[in-house]
Amino acid sequence: MPVTVVVGAQWGDEGKAKVIDLLAAEHSHVVRYQGGHNAGHTVVVGTERYALQLIPSGVLYPHIVPVIGNGVVVDLPTLFREIDTLEGRGISCAKLKVSSQAHLIFPWHQSLDALYEAKRGDEKIGTTLKGIGPAYSDKARRIGLRAGDVLDSAAFAEAVRANCVYHNREIEGLGGESLDAEAVVAQFAELGARLAPYVADTVEMLHEALDRDDALLLEGAQATFLDLDHGTYPFVTSSNPTAGGACVGTGIGPRYLTRIVGITKAYATRVGSGPFATELTDELGDKLVDIGREFGTVTGRRRRCGWLDLVMLRKAVRINSLTELALTKLDVLDTFDEVKVCTEYDADGNPVYAVLPGWRTDISAVNDIDALPAAARDFVALVEREVGIPVKIVGTGAERESYVIWS
Ligand code: GDP
Ligand code: IMO
Ligand code: MG
Repeated sequence: MPVTVVVGAQWGDEGKAKVIDLLAAEHSHVVRYQGGHNAGHTVVVGTERYALQLIPSGVLYPHIVPVIGNGVVVDLPTLFREIDTLEGRGISCAKLKVSSQAHLIFPWHQSLDALYEAKRGDEKIGTTLKGIGPAYSDKARRIGLRAGDVLDSAAFAEAVRANCVYHNREIEGLGGESLDAEAVVAQFAELGARLAPYVADTVEMLHEALDRDDALLLEGAQATFLDLDHGTYPFVTSSNPTAGGACVGTGIGPRYLTRIVGITKAYATRVGSGPFATELTDELGDKLVDIGREFGTVTGRRRRCGWLDLVMLRKAVRINSLTELALTKLDVLDTFDEVKVCTEYDADGNPVYAVLPGWRTDISAVNDIDALPAAARDFVALVEREVGIPVKIVGTGAERESYVIWS
């Protein structure tokens, strides 16, 4: 049975969650495979808006088993806040499973994230300050604590205490305020007890599902150009959002992956520092921010905006083995007189643009390819032709029903 992966093809916030929600209808499990609560995944259903950080975006469907895979770093206060909020809105999280191998985020990771950023001064990455980088560092240093560790509460308490004392030294060395170890131990005794029933051997569980021919959907957070290896280092996140990370972060081998969907906006955005060749710093950029509502779900920061960069998309196709694209937020360009797309870079590395006429038509109610204005269809066709893989879904609005099946 095919396994589908959804990967951001730009710098995040491409509308992955909306596509996950759309595809979830025909899958049995939705599995997060990396990142943590730095993600902000929005699904809009009628008048309801769900902003998910850790819980897989398929949770809105009663038939879906939501899984937090081994590659994720889990912030327990956020996880339980999210569960409580969803359940308060009538969405059950009872089927949620958290990999015993997933690493946990602790308050010292958040302190260190802020201290490292402050130390970088003008060179700061602009992280979400959620402790993601420090948590993955501890994983790589082999001193992290994992979800499965909560099952032995006495040993867990001891390990939390020792970890806190250890990290306090680094926090103090950086001029920060050390944490009260006993308070953290008490807090995590409670959080750990609440986590215990959700902890599972998700690798085994997912393989049993594959043996039953269930269809699995793997949900990427962040994106290709925030990837620790393939992104614009050091302005990246500390995990591997690319398709290879979906294998590592779930324990599902590469030969199972059959459909790898790259998500791209019809333009480009980026939150935080780092290169952005097609960035618009003029009023056109402001217009994209306004119409696209380009403010971060997690941090509220204004997203930097610019034109779509097909050179990057072609690279994303290669790195992820993308089989198709979903092109979101086409409606945001509805009022532009002309629309630009970067097709290549010149010898100095500056973007070279194809200039297309705008369609100047509201496409937000369009569900049918034939009802799209010709200029909008030409835009999608250009992307398809230049990138070399089919566009399957075109987003025409934030709501669940606002899309066109392209091919
Ligand atoms: P993700 O992190 O990739 O899941 O994306 P986010 O949820 O952070 O940001 C995407 C934003 O665009 C959300 O507010 C979505 O509701 C919204 N959105 C998704 N698809 C479309 C679309 O086709 N058109 C418009 N106008 N908004 C969209
Ligand atoms: P979703 O899943 C957009 C960015 C941060 C920063 C860099 C490193 O919603 O697409 P981190 O806190 O991860 O160490 O920050 O990565 N970043 C995101 N940008 N969307 C996200 O997630 C992001 N998650 C992290 O802004 O530049
Ligand atoms: Mg987001």
